[in-house]
Amino acid sequence: DRLWLVVPAAGRGRRMGADRPKQYLPLAGRTVLALTLARLHAAFPGARLCLCLDPEDARFDPAEVPFADWRRVPGGAERADSVRHALAAIADEAEAADPVLVHDVARPCVTVDDLRRLAAAVAEAPAGGLLAAPVADTMKRDDGAGGVRGTEPRAGLWHALTPQGFAFGLLRRALEAGGAAVTDEASAVEALGLAPRLVEGRRDNLKITHPEDLALAEAILAAQGL
Ligand code: C5P
Repeated sequence: DRLWLVVPAAGRGRRMGADRPKQYLPLAGRTVLALTLARLHAAFPGARLCLCLDPEDARFDPAEVPFADWRRVPGGAERADSVRHALAAIADEAEAADPVLVHDVARPCVTVDDLRRLAAAVAEAPAGGLLAAPVADTMKRDDGAGGVRGTEPRAGLWHALTPQGFAFGLLRRALEAGGAAVTDEASAVEALGLAPRLVEGRRDNLKITHPEDLALAEAILAAQGL
C-alpha cells in the first residue's frame, strides 16, 4: 500500500481577518502552505498528494509543492466536502487498504517524528487513528448566558489534532455516511461504531486560526530548530 496525503486548503480563514487565506500568510520567510507541505514531504517523500484548493484561489503557486506525484482538486463548502472531493479524485487509483493521512494546511508545526509515529500506528489499526493531545486546562460548560453551568471532568479528554489517518475504503465509507456536521475524519469513523486510535502528539502542533497564532507558530518553529 502506498501512502496518500490529503491536505484540505480550501478554507477562507475568516477568523484570521487577513487580506488572504491563512495558508498564504508569510511565516518564517515562506508561506504557511509551503512549510506544511515541506514537513509532510520530509516525513513521506514518496507519498502521493491531493491538495484541495478553492477554485477561485489565485495565490496558489505550484512551485511550493515539493511532491513529484500530486494533484489539485476543488474544495467544497465545508472541510469534509473538500476531503470528499479528494477521495473521489483518487478513487480510480487508490486501493481500499491504502492508508490516507488527512492534514490541515494550517498546521505547519507538526513534526516529522509525530507524522511517522502516526503513520505507523495507522498501518496497524483497523479503525485508523489521529494525533491527539491530552487536555491540560480545566474545562467549563457555559449556561448560555455568560455564566458557568458546570465543570467538565477533564480526565480522558483529548484535543483532536491532524493528521488523521485511515484506510482509503473505510474513510470513503465514513465520509459518505457522515453529514455536514463532520469536523474531522475521526468523528465520521466513530459514527460507524469504530474506535480510532489516539496517538499522543506534541501540543505545539498548533492550528493557525487567529492573528496571534502566526507569532506563536514562528516561535514554535524556531524552538523546534528543525
Ligand atoms: O477553518 P479551519 O481552520 O477549521 O479549517 C481547517 C482546514 O480545512 C484548513 O486547512 C482549511 O483550509 C480547510 N478547509 C477546506 N475546505 C473548506 C473549509 C476548510 O479545505 N470548505
